[in-house]
Amino acid sequence: MSESTHDPLASFPGFPRGWFVIQFSDELAPGEVKPLRYFGKDFVLFRTESGEPAILDAFCPHLGAHLGYGGKVKGDEIECPFHAWRFDGRGKCTAVPYATKVPPKAKIGAHHVVEKNGMIYLWHDRDGYGPDWEVPDLPEYDLAHYLEWNHSIIEIATHPREIVENLVDTGHFMPVHGTRAEKFRNEFRGHVGVQYNEGVAYPLGGGEDHYALTATYYGPAYMVVHMKGVLESIIINSHTPIEEGRLHLRFAVSLKHDGNIDRTSQFVAQYIDNLRRGYLQDVAIWENKVFRERPILCDGDGDIGALRRWYRQFYEPREPFERQAAE
Ligand code: FES
Ligand SMILES: [Fe+2]
Repeated sequence: MSESTHDPLASFPGFPRGWFVIQFSDELAPGEVKPLRYFGKDFVLFRTESGEPAILDAFCPHLGAHLGYGGKVKGDEIECPFHAWRFDGRGKCTAVPYATKVPPKAKIGAHHVVEKNGMIYLWHDRDGYGPDWEVPDLPEYDLAHYLEWNHSIIEIATHPREIVENLVDTGHFMPVHGTRAEKFRNEFRGHVGVQYNEGVAYPLGGGEDHYALTATYYGPAYMVVHMKGVLESIIINSHTPIEEGRLHLRFAVSLKHDGNIDRTSQFVAQYIDNLRRGYLQDVAIWENKVFRERPILCDGDGDIGALRRWYRQFYEPREPFERQAAE
């Protein structure tokens, strides 16, 4: 049987549509400029002096300099390092220092960016349409009750679907993480995919820790986990494709505190380290595996078919009426 493009188990070409974390807020100071490469394209990210993040295509429409290398923030605009043309956060050329008129066609592609929850998110849609959903607020993440993000990033060689399939994969908990899921269920609603998971972890030092977590994907790449174990935490597990087959993984933890937790204590460091180690156990598998279009499954496996059908939506072109609504 030949595989049609609508086969839910077939490969996922290109990059999915959605919001992607491209930076934690504390990685981009006012006036800072950074080159970025995501989705097989080059961008420049900058924060205006008044504090707004903006992301533009990297290359100047004049003679093609990369704004991310040597570009300078001037007020709310970025100045090209080559001939000092200026662009605002929407990509419009606002000034050419040695010309009397700004060429009307002088502009750069600008992208939807949003900053909230201590993160900067970029909307990606290969068809060029705007967001059809918003990044939800994380009301729990207020620094009176939660520690600021402890975040890390690694680059790995894998396809994003490998990471996302973890959401339904019940069979890997014991072999990979040494945890036993006693209650496990998934739910898929529109662009949201959820895992409810309660069970027991067997830490290296011995004993048993009971945990309950809700892991929620908002779109194809941004997952928020609310975890109750020995401590309560929010965990971010987010990936952003760099090229086909290579991506950035971001992992962040914020611990709930009662106002007098010692954030520099050994215990806090170890707790976060344990969570990160659990996550790196998955990474070791992802980096080296192949993707089975048609895996042989058994009755104890999670619903990989449902996950793949849900995930496919982010690769499908939107219906025309949805496109208009997004413009
Ligand atoms: S290349 Fe950017 S101003 Fe000339
Ligand atoms: Fe896992």
